[in-house]
Amino acid sequence: MPLRRSKVLVKWIFENQHKLQTVRCCSSSLRYKELEESAAQPEPLAAPPSPAPNTRPHISPEISFKSDDLQVRLAAPYQLQPKPEAGDLGFGKFFTDHMLKVHYQRQLGGWQKPEIMPFENLSIHPAAKALHYAIQLFEGLKAYRGRDDKIRLFRPDLNMERMNLAAQRSGLPTFDGDELIRCITRLVQIDQEWVPHSETSTLYIRPTLIGTEPTFGIQAPESALLFVILSPVSAYYKTSTDGAVSIYADPNVVRAFPGGVGNRKVGSNYGPTIEATARAAKMGHHQVLWLFGPDHELTEVGAMNIFMVYINDQGDKQLSTPPLNGLILPGVTRRSILELASQWEDLTVKEEVLTMKRVIELNQQGRLLEMFGAGTAVVISPISRVGFLDEDISIPTMKQAQPVFQRVKDTLLAIQYGHIEHPYARIIS
Ligand SMILES: Cc1ncc(COP(=O)(O)O)c(C=O)c1O
Repeated sequence: MPLRRSKVLVKWIFENQHKLQTVRCCSSSLRYKELEESAAQPEPLAAPPSPAPNTRPHISPEISFKSDDLQVRLAAPYQLQPKPEAGDLGFGKFFTDHMLKVHYQRQLGGWQKPEIMPFENLSIHPAAKALHYAIQLFEGLKAYRGRDDKIRLFRPDLNMERMNLAAQRSGLPTFDGDELIRCITRLVQIDQEWVPHSETSTLYIRPTLIGTEPTFGIQAPESALLFVILSPVSAYYKTSTDGAVSIYADPNVVRAFPGGVGNRKVGSNYGPTIEATARAAKMGHHQVLWLFGPDHELTEVGAMNIFMVYINDQGDKQLSTPPLNGLILPGVTRRSILELASQWEDLTVKEEVLTMKRVIELNQQGRLLEMFGAGTAVVISPISRVGFLDEDISIPTMKQAQPVFQRVKDTLLAIQYGHIEHPYARIIS
């Protein structure tokens, strides 16, 4: 092409970039053809109507993407990521060679074909709704390599259900969770050498859904991007030498409130916890114990669900956690602990409101035995100290001969790493 003509073309592109937006944000797998063919048909349905909170998401598979459409583009040798030493892993610092992307474009009929591709940066319009109104959500689950060398996921269906509930709350498109599990399975299979050959490390899976529509206006986005990235991880955070954590309960800050989104895994729940966590750290604590209301109800600890073990009024050992009242994330670990422990005959298991007054009373009476946090990232985190107002409360968690937290942790790890066969673990490779 003569130089002058190409200069004119470059100038035209520069001046008309905005008109190319639709083209730029579409990848080769977008369904132009299918769209043309269905042009005569009625408009695709918008997101399904919101059901009452806490019900199962109303998903109709016709509007989901399909794992059968998955397209795979493998990384070239120069695109492979350097593999870290096991001792350097930390949490979420390294990423694998591939990622999964599924675009959603309302104008093009909704969900597009899922693609696995070499890990890459995202290119996102500065006006994308996710960047301004936190129209986004994320999930966290893990792939575990067992001693039999098989790779397992732990109850991924529950993560999918939670993801869809968060999507509904934020006006993001919902999808069929089984289809995403199949896509994630393929992604983990492709990057399977990144699943650590160790029982102290795992491959953390981070599905994320963001509203990408590049317009101001607080409305359900017309376009979105679902992506999944993988990160080999070891310890989530530092503990004291005995493996326990110290937590600080500040009654002046709340993580969630009734009618809010404490029960949804949306990014806007996490950014605002940083200042309080840093303040707790300055006072020598590892995490924040999130309280709510005039009775100082215990809700969660850091990014974990909270559990307490104590001797109840009947003289029995009881494992308790606060009920799912909208302030609390319905943790997969929480639910699994409740289900597993309720089969143990020597333990009473209860969901009940727990207050700081009750913690202090039980502790003074010598009936409080243990406190611990539970979540996918940490599994179980025993708590040995609680800072509250002017008090520094010692919790005898690490002094128990046969602590419940250890039994719970051993049981979960045995399922996750395949020491015992259990329906919670799904073998994927
Ligand atoms: C606020 C909060 N609570 C609890 C949990 C534990 O949930 P799960 O067991 O599903 O990891 C998490 C982690 O996702 C969390 O962020």
